[in-house]
Amino acid sequence: MSRPLLLDLFCCEGGAATGYHRAGFDVLGVDIEPQPRYPFRFVQADAMTYPLDGFDAIHASPPCQDYSKNLRHQASGYPQLIDPIRDRLIASGVPWVIENVEGAPLPVQDDLFGAYGTELCGTMFGLRVWRHRLFETSFPIAAPRGCNHATRPLNPYRQSSRVLMAGIVGGEWSTQEEPWRAEMGVRWMSRDGAREAIPPAYTEYIGRQLIKAAKAGNRVTAGDHDEPWSPGSDDWYRQEPDGTIRRCEPT
Ligand SMILES: C[S@@+](CC[C@H](N)C(=O)[O-])C[C@H]1O[C@@H](n2cnc3c(N)ncnc32)[C@H](O)[C@@H]1O
Repeated sequence: MSRPLLLDLFCCEGGAATGYHRAGFDVLGVDIEPQPRYPFRFVQADAMTYPLDGFDAIHASPPCQDYSKNLRHQASGYPQLIDPIRDRLIASGVPWVIENVEGAPLPVQDDLFGAYGTELCGTMFGLRVWRHRLFETSFPIAAPRGCNHATRPLNPYRQSSRVLMAGIVGGEWSTQEEPWRAEMGVRWMSRDGAREAIPPAYTEYIGRQLIKAAKAGNRVTAGDHDEPWSPGSDDWYRQEPDGTIRRCEPT
């Protein structure tokens, strides 16, 4: 049976994609940078112009530096892409999700004006990860339960957590990053990829509701593609300036 096809815009190394795949989607990722660790089919292209036709659902994780209270000092030069990408997603006509950090202009819960959204934390999924992220959706959605910050998180980038981790795995960065990536559920990622990623548990949760919305819209298109888009594919494509998409080798 064919799986619905999700377009993963701003995909990086595939944290969000992996959760959607677990929820039942085939996935195609798009990022402006080469992403040789992305575990699904990939196109190097600009998410702001990539064609949105032929997908059953779309996820977008635009850069967060300009919205994050922790990263605002690095923000100069980062465009604010949430409003323009939302306009593109609405125009696509398929169910969609936008993910970003706390502080981004996304709803944290359904509001009276027809916007839908929720905020997720790793502790909602039994992970020793706090990493709060906002999800705006085109369909009603709620968090699975409240967060539980009674247990300190694993996080090699926070001094208080490094002390905790030093007691468990030792005090070196090299020994602390691996168990943190494992807790996040992103073992295959580079250090930079993991720092940008969301735990796949978040999008597995969102994806199980998104897939119902996609199927309800009767727009399942995966069967229209001439070959299955399998996970673990190392197929790599690039969008040329004239808009054509060309197969190439990962760099
Ligand atoms: C926050 S990361 C996405 C993390 C990903 N959702 C995950 O869970 O692993 C944002 C990504 O957007 C990419 N990016 C920035 N501007 C872009 C653009 N105009 N088109 C496509 N990708 C872009 C960056 O290269 C980066 O990999």
